[in-house]
Amino acid sequence: MNILLLGSGGREHAFAWKIVQSPKCSQLYVAPGNAGTASIAKNIQLSITDFEGIKNFILDHAIDLVVVGPEEPLVKGIVDFLLKDDQTSNIPVVGPSQLGATLEGSKDFSKRFMQRNNVPTAAYETFTANEIEAGLAYLETQKLPIVLKADGLAAGKGVLICQSLKEAKDSFKEMLLDQKFGEASAKVVVEEFLHGIELSVFVATDGKNYKILPEAKDYKRIGEGDTGLNTGGMGAVSPVIFADNAYMNKVEELVVKPTVEGLAKENIPYKGFLFIGLMNNNGQPYVIEYNVRMGDPETEAVLPRITSDFVELLEGIGTGTLENYNLEISPEYATTVVMVSGGYPEAYQKGFPITLPSLTENTIVFHAGTSTNEKGELINQGGRVLACTGLGKTLENALKNAFSTVQKIHWEKSYYRKDIGQDILKLMK
Ligand code: AMP
Ligand code: GLY
Repeated sequence: MNILLLGSGGREHAFAWKIVQSPKCSQLYVAPGNAGTASIAKNIQLSITDFEGIKNFILDHAIDLVVVGPEEPLVKGIVDFLLKDDQTSNIPVVGPSQLGATLEGSKDFSKRFMQRNNVPTAAYETFTANEIEAGLAYLETQKLPIVLKADGLAAGKGVLICQSLKEAKDSFKEMLLDQKFGEASAKVVVEEFLHGIELSVFVATDGKNYKILPEAKDYKRIGEGDTGLNTGGMGAVSPVIFADNAYMNKVEELVVKPTVEGLAKENIPYKGFLFIGLMNNNGQPYVIEYNVRMGDPETEAVLPRITSDFVELLEGIGTGTLENYNLEISPEYATTVVMVSGGYPEAYQKGFPITLPSLTENTIVFHAGTSTNEKGELINQGGRVLACTGLGKTLENALKNAFSTVQKIHWEKSYYRKDIGQDILKLMK
């Protein structure tokens, strides 16, 4: 098969790494990709939102399967665009329809979907600028902290956890009246705060059938002990101790089944990955959010644990034949430590040469924001630069393998969190 993968992050390098291991893949193209995908596939200079360009590439290169990595093209409707065009309508695409992608693109839409389908989630109300007074009155009735969420996509910054009523009221007004997050905060979801530990659950679905992939925990904030600014993710571990069989059965019955059944019942076309962000509150799962793609950096810890053929999984999703796929998962631990540019998630300098070590067994380095300069040297080109994954029979070993790689990699001002996995190690003792 000729396969086209859209995206350029660590998630896409992990996808590419897994895809090229399959005997079913004859040629993989990645648009636009990064220095890591360039080493195992063919990078294409195409923007992920240039739908016409993508269509022409698919036709010119006899593409048999399209895989969409990030949410942006999904929310903008790439799947509908390709499936509605006579020339590309018979080519399977892995990714939900635009309506399905609204589960990530609009918090209000996803909360209403959860309510209709009895999926456990935090209590909430949604307000627009015309409903300021009602919203402020509602805030007065809420327990602290109060969670405010911009309805639309806000690059991971649209969620505020307010510790006082004054802070909540001020932020609420800024979001609705001063467009703090632009169009994204034209609607604001006010939500009950959930206590507990977060878990990332990944579901592959063709809209009827589903497979639950290995779960993971990610480390969102820049500083150790989960302090400081939110990032796209500084590390991940899989499996997660509290997500035992009993817990995952509960997640399947209470969350995954009603979600997939809800998609089918409401005629929301969905052939893709669904990432369910859960809060484990005293053993009960509550959905914090849906994402309509795989997580990053969770993918870099999840995919190495999948031992069955990955292209067959993608084909099953894209062609609606997932029922026949036999998902096999390694019991091994995988841990990922993300190395970022100094200063990230705020301003940072690009273009520093990076030295990569030769890899030992049980370690993988996935590229995210990398490229090569005119001298052919590998350089940092984005905030999140490399995702180093270590595998092992124990969590300790997997962490040792990940960190031993990290310690051998150097560029000016690079930074990583040394505490990835430490909270889970403590829970295991
Ligand atoms: P979201 O963009 O909805 O994933 O929110 C970003 C982060 O805010 C989540 O990963 C949680 O850490 C936190 N968060 C969101 N909603 C809640 C909630 N209702 N209770 C507690 N924490 C939350
Ligand atoms: N790691 C969280 C995300 O991909 O959104």
